[in-house]
Amino acid sequence: MPDSYSLHTHTCGELRNNNIGETVTLTGWVWHRRDHGGLIFIDLRDRKGMTQISFDPEHSGGTAFHTAERVRLEWPIMVTGTVRKRPEGMENARIETGEVEVLVSEIQVLNTSLTPPFQIEDRVDSSEDVRLRYRYLDLRRPKMAENLKLRNDFTFAMREALHNRDFTEVETPSLFKSTPEGARDFLVPSRTQPGHFYALPQSPQLLKQLLMIGGVERYYQVAKCFRDEDLRADRQPEFTQVDVEMSFVDQDTVMHALEDVLHDAFAKVGVDMPTPLRRISYWDAMDTYGTDKPDTRYDMKLVDVTDIFKDTKFKVFANSANTEGEVVKCINAKGAGAWPRAQIDKLEPVAADLGAKGLAWIAFRPDGTINSPIVKFFSDEEMAALRERAQVELGDLVMFAATKRLEADEILGGMRSYMADALELPREGHDFLWVVDFPLFHWDEDRKAYASEHMPFTQPMEADIDRLETEPLSCGSHTYDFVMDGFEAGGGGMRIHNADLQMRVLKLLGFTEERAEEQFGFLMEALKYGAPPMGGFALGLDRVCMLLTGSDSIREVMAFPKTSSGSDLMSAAPSEVTLRQLKELSLRLL
Ligand code: AMO
Ligand code: AMP
Repeated sequence: MPDSYSLHTHTCGELRNNNIGETVTLTGWVWHRRDHGGLIFIDLRDRKGMTQISFDPEHSGGTAFHTAERVRLEWPIMVTGTVRKRPEGMENARIETGEVEVLVSEIQVLNTSLTPPFQIEDRVDSSEDVRLRYRYLDLRRPKMAENLKLRNDFTFAMREALHNRDFTEVETPSLFKSTPEGARDFLVPSRTQPGHFYALPQSPQLLKQLLMIGGVERYYQVAKCFRDEDLRADRQPEFTQVDVEMSFVDQDTVMHALEDVLHDAFAKVGVDMPTPLRRISYWDAMDTYGTDKPDTRYDMKLVDVTDIFKDTKFKVFANSANTEGEVVKCINAKGAGAWPRAQIDKLEPVAADLGAKGLAWIAFRPDGTINSPIVKFFSDEEMAALRERAQVELGDLVMFAATKRLEADEILGGMRSYMADALELPREGHDFLWVVDFPLFHWDEDRKAYASEHMPFTQPMEADIDRLETEPLSCGSHTYDFVMDGFEAGGGGMRIHNADLQMRVLKLLGFTEERAEEQFGFLMEALKYGAPPMGGFALGLDRVCMLLTGSDSIREVMAFPKTSSGSDLMSAAPSEVTLRQLKELSLRLL
């Protein structure tokens, strides 16, 4: 569809057989250039694709041809010419415009270009640092254009799905007060109030609760969030959430609304998310998959074998099997039983990184022999029971963890995902589920204190409220995580809307009334003015787009991401500032 907002009549991804004979104008960058005995061919590229344009010295007096002799890779040009069928045998079925080319009669060089530091191709042949240093060139790669487009389409679809259900997008401030989401805050010094700081929001959590008290009822926002935490492939210091909150609801209504919204938005990008989504409780997920974000596209479930090894001669197992709160569990990695010993030995350090004291294993070799450092301790009955419980076949590698329940789960959960990668288990399509019923608190060993499993404003299960102070670790919460392909792609819950209950929870988290007042006085006060029942959710937009585009890092779906040390390599941020700037802010560097 020709549009009138551009110098060109068509994009470089548009021309087909039915345009043959038309005079068209294209703009774009010189992608590849071939000199063929008197004829010059250029692949002209823009964000929509590429079109072959050809230059003939015999055509239009040869001026276009002579200019084409000078142009180099990545120069932006504008050409006008006639669409013609490519000569027999020269078609390129791999590209959409592959049947035609444009014979150029006029060319205008719009600018020249330095030789790019890497080739603008989907195949990446340069380090990520170089890509990030020249991000504007990296963004010219077709895959990056596609990623940004998909991100736009999905974000737009989320907005549309929410808008259609009467949600109102409300912007909330970036200069705000520290909110406890579990990470460190980015602070912004105030010039007008020396010694005082804003904090960039880790999420709009408190603000959206205040919007509910303010009667907004159905809120959403495509919100930037800031967290000063250690970065990984799926974490950036600033990232985007599609943040949602609803009032006059219960947990089921919120989850139902979210499923509808997500279903519609995924459908718009061609992904079927069947509803209602499967729900797995936190404890079941930990017990069965060893993680609260399981990828259920492959099996390899954790198997509890504690009872089998109650009387075993292998001390490590016997100890755990007879200690309250400890377990002996295993996973069965099918196929890895054929691995050579040296490869199996490399698994122990992997388990050690996950916190394991050791990794006992049994390899059931395809030829029927058994290789293992521990089977010598086992009785025939123990082996038979293990074989049956873990459904052992020839070629299997069974790995064990014997320790505290949650620790064993986490170790084997980590091994499960490591083995899935190592064995290249097929994981086709997408896997969506809810993990629900997280505990309200966990014990933070470093701080020697209770900590919120989700966050401090989460509604406890009604039936557990009486036991908050006496048995805090046994209290459940109204929470749900949205898990996609083994990633935590979103999370939310119902909120406390009663000031007294909120204070009780804050006290359990170690807040005194004074500190709670200082940090959340505004919320505590607002809760006393008729706060309605409320709940919500935030979708990690970057993570979802990473999974939708099949990328292995969220950096691939962000235009200008930061490195793992938090730098922007293009602008060299963060950078030093002048003494004068510091002085204005009443700051002095240590
Ligand atoms: P939570 O902290 O779970 O919840 O964040 C919601 C989702 O945001 C994504 N996410 C991130 N993505 C990229 N980089 C990061 N550093 C990062 N941190 C989190 C994840 C996560 O599931 N206010 C609550 C939501 C609520 O209860 O409504 C919150 O922020 O995909
Ligand atoms: P050891 O008797 O300590 O030499 O251990 C024998 C085997 O058991 C070794 O392969 C260890 O890695 C493994 N092992 C030790 N502790 C544990 C544990 N807590 N859970 C699982 N395996 C372990």
